[in-house]
Amino acid sequence: MSKTASKLTITAALPYTNGPLHIGHLAGVYVPADIFARYWRAQNREVAFICGSDEHGVAISMKARNEGISPQEVIDTYDGIIRKAFQDFGISFDNYSRTSKPVHHETAQAFFKTLHQKEVFQEITSEQLYDPEAQAFLADRYVTGQCPQCGHPEAYGDQCEACGSSLNATELIQPKSTLSGATPELKETKHWFLPLDQYESFIDEWIIQGHRSDWKPNVYGQVKSWVDNGLKPRAVTRDLDWGIPVPVEGAQGKVLYVWFDAPIGYISSTKEWAEQNGKNWEDYWKDPQTELVHFIGKDNIVFHCIIFPIMLKAHGDYILPENVPANEFLNLEGKKISTSKNWAVWLHEYLEEFPEQQDVLRYVLTANAPETKDNDFTWKDFQTRNNSELVAIYGNFVNRVLVLSQKYYDGVVPAAGDYKSQDTALLEAVGLMPEKIGQAIEKYRFREASQILMQLARLGNKYLADEEPWKQIKTDAVRVQTIMHTALQVTAALAVLSEPFLPHTTQKLKKMLHLDALGLDWQNIATAQELLPKDHQLGEVQLLFQRIEDASIEAQIQKLETTQNDTTAMTFEPQKESIPFDTFEALDLRVGEIKTAQRVPKTDKLMQMEVDLGYEQRTIVSGIAQHFDAASLIGKKVSVVANLAPRKIRGVQSQGMLLLAEDAEGQLIFMSPEDSNLPNGAVIR
Ligand code: MF3
Ligand code: ZN
Repeated sequence: MSKTASKLTITAALPYTNGPLHIGHLAGVYVPADIFARYWRAQNREVAFICGSDEHGVAISMKARNEGISPQEVIDTYDGIIRKAFQDFGISFDNYSRTSKPVHHETAQAFFKTLHQKEVFQEITSEQLYDPEAQAFLADRYVTGQCPQCGHPEAYGDQCEACGSSLNATELIQPKSTLSGATPELKETKHWFLPLDQYESFIDEWIIQGHRSDWKPNVYGQVKSWVDNGLKPRAVTRDLDWGIPVPVEGAQGKVLYVWFDAPIGYISSTKEWAEQNGKNWEDYWKDPQTELVHFIGKDNIVFHCIIFPIMLKAHGDYILPENVPANEFLNLEGKKISTSKNWAVWLHEYLEEFPEQQDVLRYVLTANAPETKDNDFTWKDFQTRNNSELVAIYGNFVNRVLVLSQKYYDGVVPAAGDYKSQDTALLEAVGLMPEKIGQAIEKYRFREASQILMQLARLGNKYLADEEPWKQIKTDAVRVQTIMHTALQVTAALAVLSEPFLPHTTQKLKKMLHLDALGLDWQNIATAQELLPKDHQLGEVQLLFQRIEDASIEAQIQKLETTQNDTTAMTFEPQKESIPFDTFEALDLRVGEIKTAQRVPKTDKLMQMEVDLGYEQRTIVSGIAQHFDAASLIGKKVSVVANLAPRKIRGVQSQGMLLLAEDAEGQLIFMSPEDSNLPNGAVIR
């Protein structure tokens, strides 16, 4: 059976409705998923492209708490904003649902009940973290602490975002309640656990031994390392007041863990769609011929490659994902995108600046997608991709062809005469494009696919530049008819093949070419048949893309810098008790100058320095070696606590202390006497 004969269920990670979407979401998940869905629809495959809002979990209730509103208000607000962004950017979901809808609550509860009846769960009473001040059990994002796997200091109770490990809250080192800041206590509570350990061999056979080595290396590698580390039972219920009630006896006040209910959201969203469209949802989830593909970001890998498949397997009857093409992360101007620091390009704000340029962002994010490694979005690159590719190549080519066709033939496609070899070479190259682009897309190589598409425009552009119809028209008008006929075929191919990538542009171009009447598809191009017949009447010419000027890019960079919010990321230490003036006066602060510096052997952090205080030279050891090169320190004027009693640090007598402060990023900054005319040893008051 050919691939196109089977149904295709495409899911895109359900976004949390606790904030708007930014370019990282689009680049990592939704644009590639949309290209994939549009491509397969264009091959006449039956596609269900499924998504919805993820509206439970601590992320939502925490947002509500912080803003002093109800969780329902939070989800209603962001569900609306997110929906609009998807629509604006042309993300062509067949259905976008919400996990707060009754259809989802029912589906998730029924799923849980089935596993319960099959005695899949272990009911375990155990000690969980409890915040005595807030009087609440702490799970997931209500607790942070050091990651036991990688040492990241701010891992969440269910997951470490630094290394991607999935965690149980009790594994965190030095846990801290995010509700009150209190150190949690242990308190007994009963929960339902999914015994992942019992499914280790299933995952091993299916992914590791199975044919899944064609999965992206980042995905396969993560799964393999989890299996190698051994899977552990995992609680799928929580003591929280926001979520789907656990539908069995003795579960008063408990809800389903959000990562249990959310992926079931794919199923309930499919159900909702099927009901509204006279389809059978089971065809998309239970037919072994159907292919299921999950588009996600890399922080979701464990849930989609291990936990959800185990849930599906334990339930029985469900198909498993064919592939889980997870992307890496997109950075912004060299820094990690951060909601709390407001270091992000928000989609709704982008549209305020670039209201007609949805496709530009889609294109840039695809051409530069974080497919195999984290990647960087910069406004400069955005401008270059727009001006030198979309405008100078794609737009320029289409515009020249159409303007000349109007001018020479009143917009009627001329007949081709005898073809020259350059004409047939171009037409042959066009004929190969559907296959080339298709193969890249089918392998989830969307960057490559977008570049092949651009190559098509480039070929057309070069053909025109070589043939110079605007010159030949004076000497050989018959030849120009063939040139223009040929170039017009390329514009038609571009219109059709661009659709998955640049849906808005495709629509405009199709209108300009009056293409809808012809009903062309990818197959027509691949068989190298004539796309635009002679005498076909073309439509009105419009510009497809516009140059983006430096000023507009600079304004964006400026905006990023000025609206970034470093203070929310700062955690302020509590202020110490006040001291009498005498105590301050007892401090002897001096200007010093670093004369020599070297790292203390066998330590990472310690730097040993000779500091000139004017009246004497001191040896000072300071924990700054990870922040400064020894060489960069030499000659630096610094503030020194000169009368601190000497201390032995790693065998070295340290005779004083340097003053430094830490910024929001954890960088150390010297409290240094700016004016180096100050003599060493001068008193600082
Ligand atoms: N809301 C999750 C996130 O943004 C993704 C949920 S995907 C689903 O990370 F599978 F659970 F739906
Ligand atoms: Zn970690």
